[in-house]
Amino acid sequence: MPPGSLSTSFRLWWRRRGAAFALALLAAALLLALSRYAAVPSASPSPSYGHRLPTLVDLTLVYDRGAVCLDGTPPGYHFLPGFGEGSHSWLLHLEGGSWCPNLKSCARRQKTSLGSSAYMDSRVDFVGILSDDESQNPDFYNWNKVKIRYCDGASFSGNVQDQVKNGTGFFFRGQRIWEAVMADLLSKGLSRAKQAFLTGCSAGGLSTYIHCDDFQALLPKTPTVKCLADGGFFLDVEDISGRRYMRAFYNDVARLQDVRKKFPHCRSDMEPGQCFFPREVAKSITTPMFILNPAYDYWQVEHVLSPEGSDPQNLWRNCRVDITKCSSKQLEILQGFRKALLDAIDELKNRRDWGMFIDSCFIHCQSMKAITWHSPSATRINNKTVAEAVGDWFFDRREVKEIDCEYPCNPTCYNAVLDKPYKEDWLAG
Ligand SMILES: *[C@@H]1O[C@H](CO)[C@@H](O)[C@H](O)[C@H]1NC(C)=O
Ligand SMILES: *[C@@H]1O[C@H](CO)[C@@H](O)[C@H](O)[C@H]1NC(C)=O
Repeated sequence: MPPGSLSTSFRLWWRRRGAAFALALLAAALLLALSRYAAVPSASPSPSYGHRLPTLVDLTLVYDRGAVCLDGTPPGYHFLPGFGEGSHSWLLHLEGGSWCPNLKSCARRQKTSLGSSAYMDSRVDFVGILSDDESQNPDFYNWNKVKIRYCDGASFSGNVQDQVKNGTGFFFRGQRIWEAVMADLLSKGLSRAKQAFLTGCSAGGLSTYIHCDDFQALLPKTPTVKCLADGGFFLDVEDISGRRYMRAFYNDVARLQDVRKKFPHCRSDMEPGQCFFPREVAKSITTPMFILNPAYDYWQVEHVLSPEGSDPQNLWRNCRVDITKCSSKQLEILQGFRKALLDAIDELKNRRDWGMFIDSCFIHCQSMKAITWHSPSATRINNKTVAEAVGDWFFDRREVKEIDCEYPCNPTCYNAVLDKPYKEDWLAG
């Protein structure tokens, strides 16, 4: 062995590996610094109830001719890649935000993120079922996750060829947005998913009932495809003044956006809006679904049961924002509303592969906040949080058909207290 070969080979090693070695050292130091930073308790209580701040996820726009928001801008989604064992699992979330029943309200939406990507935040927090924090989202934290933005005004169901003009132009292309976003995601790895989960809340919950079987059909090679509709079981009931306010509202949405053709199951003697209710949509769904719905969903109490015009004396003002302020007569009406929900889902209870979590709380969209999805303050039924119940059902760990006892029996209920009786243009749905 020639002299100096040892130091030569060390120099060679250093030239090849030294940079990587130095980088690794630097990374270790950084990690140590970061973990110290993360361990510092924050002065104010963290709103996320996780171990760290929520991850911010960038907006991706989808350019597909014909698939456009109400104002003609491209639709979009936020994508957070999965990691580790979750790399081949996909969870999609359809954003909610009510509906627009006429050109006037659609024109208002065109000036918001619910009708135009020009107003969408370029980055959003991923929390609750979208969180990548294991302590907040124990079963799905490492999955690929997508939040699909809602900007068509009719739960991704309209498909009107021609632009509607009245001063400004309107596009009713929700169905095409659904198709364009799915095509884009399939090409980015969704088509090779080992498990796939379509979820959504409020108007996005309704979208989930509507598109669940479409989703399954797009994934013929995926062994497990399931759906979760959160706060989306809107009821076709009379309001406190005896009108079917919600049906009339859905009739307007359905006519404006011609959604009837999306519902082949809809009988011709039914009003167009009737076909839009989950009770009707669910009849033909063959994919396993989980119904997550509070029996006293505050959005429905506000907009379905006691809509503004039905209460001229404003007797429901306090009850509408805080269930503890309801009179005994009002509570009786709320119990009737709960009964109507239980009747509507009665036959769905017998479907072996379906799950449900019908808690008796005054809340809306429980999968979308850390505190209601999975936290020490989260609502529990049989000592399980919503996240645990949904996970148990998704992974077949047990049968989950949880129907809570009547309000106010559940001491773990996380009940909301709203600060405004009516939200502008129903945007919160
Ligand atoms: C069209 O716009 C005008 C003026 O803004 C409004 O008065 C009218 O009601 C609109 N038409 C429809 C069908 O909404
Ligand atoms: C409820 O679940 C928690 C863990 O989530 C457990 O620590 C506790 O013992 C359980 N309580 C009962 C009564 O089973």
